[in-house]
Amino acid sequence: MGKKITNKVTWVGKVDWELKNFHGHEYSTRRGSSYNSYLIRDEKVVLIDTVWQPFDKEFVSRLKKEIDLNEIDYIVANHSEIDHSGALVELMREIPNTPIYCTANGAKIIKGHFHQDWNFVTVKTGDTLDIGESKLVFVEAPMLHWPDSMFTYMTGENILFSNDAFGQHYATESLFNDIADQSELYEEATKYYANILTPYSRLVTKKIEEVLALNLPLSMICTSHGVIWKDNPAQIIEQYLKWADDYQENQITLVYDTMWDSTRIMAEAIAAGIEEADPSVKIKLMNTSKEDKNDVVTEIFKSKAILLGSPTINNGFMHSIGGLLEMVTGLKMKGKKAAAFGSYGWGGEAVKQLTEALKKAGFTVKEDGKRSQWVPDDTELQSLKEYGKEFVAFLNEK
Ligand code: FEO
Repeated sequence: MGKKITNKVTWVGKVDWELKNFHGHEYSTRRGSSYNSYLIRDEKVVLIDTVWQPFDKEFVSRLKKEIDLNEIDYIVANHSEIDHSGALVELMREIPNTPIYCTANGAKIIKGHFHQDWNFVTVKTGDTLDIGESKLVFVEAPMLHWPDSMFTYMTGENILFSNDAFGQHYATESLFNDIADQSELYEEATKYYANILTPYSRLVTKKIEEVLALNLPLSMICTSHGVIWKDNPAQIIEQYLKWADDYQENQITLVYDTMWDSTRIMAEAIAAGIEEADPSVKIKLMNTSKEDKNDVVTEIFKSKAILLGSPTINNGFMHSIGGLLEMVTGLKMKGKKAAAFGSYGWGGEAVKQLTEALKKAGFTVKEDGKRSQWVPDDTELQSLKEYGKEFVAFLNEK
């Protein structure tokens, strides 16, 4: 059955504790996720979003226990991605004429997914829908994170249904943010922002400023994944403004892969040099073939600078580094510095290639990457340590 959020709003979504990967295998969801759907009962009855398709039958059958489906006056589809629209086919089989409120892009994409000509009512920012005591106010949020994304604000209850924005892939039975483990919650919220929203940071800032300028009272943010922000909902808005502002902590992350340990030894020696030059900086080492790729992206997001390392193999670099570079390039992080390093036997092309790839990904790069041939001896270890110190000096340059 659903869970009561307020007298008028009931959560009717699905908590997916077993989900371990999302977007294919592009996003790891080690703490599961949820697809939050909400039923509003005012003079009119409104369903906000649905759930992912594998749970469509379960969703519709649970919804039937909550309400006679024919009593649903309107459906609002804040976002057409199938984790929220996936149960529409099953639902619309039962109530085929129910109007679906969405953006013009939303209608196009839902049609593109399901090839159904449902009763779409397209809305724009500022459009409203009277549902009795309350009104729904629609706010388009294009590219946060799809062209169709939209927020819906409910007056009276003062709830922002924000869909993906402010969400986390985090399964929780209790639903509310204050009951969740705070460090887990923020870890997942940071990972979600870093891996999904970073490329749209300028739009995040603009949209939040636009919504704040409306001076709408806010008692809750009902997201489509993870917790409902009920206790001090402004906290996640403030955090988003920080994350969107080219976020960085006093952290340097050394990200590498290694074949016979030489590149790992290099990473450790460079890290020792960094630590000696700046004992205040937080340093992390991550082997990309052993760490979760999304965790690596999150640590890069939190860092002011990174060192990227790979040995040379077949005139190039290792595939786990290639995959990571693809992710990082797409995320368009700004205001970060970087350098490349790696061991080699002959050739040694990887470091130059990584240097170029880091520039392409938007980092300010130290031109002279660090190469070590075969296994570093004591002299080379000292030279690597010096390189770490030079890197700190490079960070201190204007
Ligand atoms: Fe949760 Fe963009 O879908």
